[in-house]
Amino acid sequence: MTSIKTDTTPIQIFDTTLRDGEQSPGAAMTHEEKLQIAELLDEMGVDVIEAGFPISSPGDFKAVQEISKIVKRASVCGLSRAGFKDIDRAGEALKGAHRPRIHTFISTSPVHMKHKLNMGENAVLEAVGASVTRARSFTSEVEWSAEDATRTVPDFLCKCVEVAIHSGATVINVPDTVGYSTPQEFFDIITMLRNRVPNADKVIFSTHCHNDLGLGVANSLAGVLAGARQVECTINGIGERAGNAALEEIVMALKVRKDIMPFTTNINTTLLNRASKLVSNVTGFPVQYNKAIVGKNAFSHESGIHQDGMLKNVETYEIMRPEDVGVNATSLMLGKLSGRHAFRDKLENMGYQLEGEAFEDAFKRFKDLADKKKHVFDEDIAALVDDEIMRGQDTISIKALRVESGTGIIPVASLTLDASGVVKSVTTSGDGPVDAIFMAIREAYPHSATLQLFQINAVTEGTDAQASVSVRLEENGRTVTGKASDTDTMVAAAYAYVNALNKLLVKREKRAPEALTIAR
Ligand code: KIV
Ligand code: ZN
Repeated sequence: MTSIKTDTTPIQIFDTTLRDGEQSPGAAMTHEEKLQIAELLDEMGVDVIEAGFPISSPGDFKAVQEISKIVKRASVCGLSRAGFKDIDRAGEALKGAHRPRIHTFISTSPVHMKHKLNMGENAVLEAVGASVTRARSFTSEVEWSAEDATRTVPDFLCKCVEVAIHSGATVINVPDTVGYSTPQEFFDIITMLRNRVPNADKVIFSTHCHNDLGLGVANSLAGVLAGARQVECTINGIGERAGNAALEEIVMALKVRKDIMPFTTNINTTLLNRASKLVSNVTGFPVQYNKAIVGKNAFSHESGIHQDGMLKNVETYEIMRPEDVGVNATSLMLGKLSGRHAFRDKLENMGYQLEGEAFEDAFKRFKDLADKKKHVFDEDIAALVDDEIMRGQDTISIKALRVESGTGIIPVASLTLDASGVVKSVTTSGDGPVDAIFMAIREAYPHSATLQLFQINAVTEGTDAQASVSVRLEENGRTVTGKASDTDTMVAAAYAYVNALNKLLVKREKRAPEALTIAR
């Protein structure tokens, strides 16, 4: 990497948690959860929110449509392949957005063109021009992506980008679709496009780097150093396979290393931790303890030498402050005597805004929890509120549960389930209490999904800690992860299973988009 281009315009942060992130195997989100995430991304200062792939399902269409209405600041983007049906559907979904963006893409690499598209170079070039022109008939913000750009023949990539710009694209995205590139190579590709393609200075170049070799963030930053001014990324780096470049890592790398990357972003970094927790809860994907920026251990110092250094001067071992990313050094604990006022204050400090019935429900759950648990920590409250949000729109819900287990008896679960107003009570036995509960759910709501994962973590320390349970189900190749917390591990297990079932219902309506047809 030879030259560093400086620019005072903030790097545009394009978040695709709701589109590419949701494509992670097992990460289905309900409609309400998507709205919740979109609101937080907007508040956080994300410049573009890719809200979904409207033609892929009625659920994605509705998500893009509703997110378009609630987002105040960011551009809202809908993905489409090159076919006119896709583009028209995206245009329709984005009608209510104050800054609508259509993101249209087609593969440009030899392997994709031959095996996926069965199209030659001329046909692809024609599709690029036609798709961008069509998208421009809906909106002035049109982003064009060369899928598998990093494995595309350089001359052909330049030609495609030239046609896209000529046809009216305002953003040119360069995806490293299979996470194959390296920082130097990615730097060179962006540099080549900026130097060789006519009118390259009229558009914004964008990075979209997958993480298959663990280089997603490094490649994105190399792209920025080469002149890209938009970075596509996801919260916690979720996404297809090994995921996408992590938003929080990109943003903090740019903030902390201004000395060698003199750029800014519009992100309020103090909301990063909250966004990470929300996405983790909604998807059921735990954040690894040592994850950069938002991992539980990211600001913990274990060794004596490090602790000693930290006490003398925090700069010895800390390159950023926990508060900068929304991790509070000290947190006021709540207990059973805390009232509505303290609870509301706490929620606001943690960045939650619950009103009316949602606030009252959360307060009631907090009081129940405080009756069982002496100290209620921030983590408990986050788990409780996130559960509340997740359960709000459920089709299937638990009305009652009783479990008996112990030595010398056969574990039995008695369960009452409500599925769209149809209430059913069952009693079943199992190998253990969890098995009995899951059998009861299967009897009350028959389904063919199989259990792939059952995992329990403690939300905080101590024997009175809430249990956070994750349940992963698989049905016809679709996987979903449900999550729930409760001081009673069996209750949490039941809620987590039912949460996964609700997500499965959402995912069932989503069909894999058929192979591309250039429908005019
Ligand atoms: O990874 C990829 O190539 C994509 C495109 C649709 C932009 O997600
Ligand atoms: Zn992608």
